[in-house]
Amino acid sequence: MPSMRLYINIDHIATIREARKTDEPDPLEAARIAELAGAHGITAHLREDRRHIQDRDVERLAAEVKTVLNLELALAPDVVDLAARLAPYQVTLVPERREEVTTEGGLDLNGDTGRLAEVIARLSQAGSRVSLFIDPDRATIDKARALGVPAIELHTGRYAHSYRSSPVALAALQSAARHGASLGLAVHAGHGLTRANVGPVAAIEEIEELNIGHSIVSRAAMAGMYAAVSEMAGIIAAARRPR
Ligand code: PXP
Repeated sequence: MPSMRLYINIDHIATIREARKTDEPDPLEAARIAELAGAHGITAHLREDRRHIQDRDVERLAAEVKTVLNLELALAPDVVDLAARLAPYQVTLVPERREEVTTEGGLDLNGDTGRLAEVIARLSQAGSRVSLFIDPDRATIDKARALGVPAIELHTGRYAHSYRSSPVALAALQSAARHGASLGLAVHAGHGLTRANVGPVAAIEEIEELNIGHSIVSRAAMAGMYAAVSEMAGIIAAARRPR
């Protein structure tokens, strides 16, 4: 089986920083560590509401990422302008709903896709590889293909919510991946993947790239907690030592 690329989404490193509007933790530093650990790419979502990643983060990531940058964005004009100027290796177009906690579904390709087609053309001309984040549904994949993009990212959220109780969502991902690949599309996947549920998705041969964020940042916080507390305790103990 061909190998699979793992792209790490570092948005929630920025979420922690934005909780205090300070300068730590730094998403670029997280990206560097992810690359050292073997990530094949770094993913960041510049949301219209700028709730985590900021424009300056994208500028720094575009300049400093050693692997490749996959920038996720919706169709907000200022965000599209920034993406067109920086022309990251890959752009993944996603829907954004203002009140959502995270990207809740794939792009709706049923209505008027004029603005989407315009953004695809602009970002492709700028030099980015454009991918569309869509639900694992045959008709939607056909519509993505008709828009002329080279890649799609299948939304794995439904699978992540239901994999314990039902095999239906996994079967939908398997057949969507097969259909996408048969049309010549590069097939990516992501959303809600964790150490517990990634295996069956990673085993789908037609999927060549996974984007994983929240679970990695969560695990990083736990795996690093012992070291962070020990370091701080050491500094405090040193300050209390008689001179
Ligand atoms: N792929 C896309 C298109 C996303 O919008 C997100 C969330 O930003 C992810 C993957 C990663 O999802 P998670 O943080 O649940 O791993």
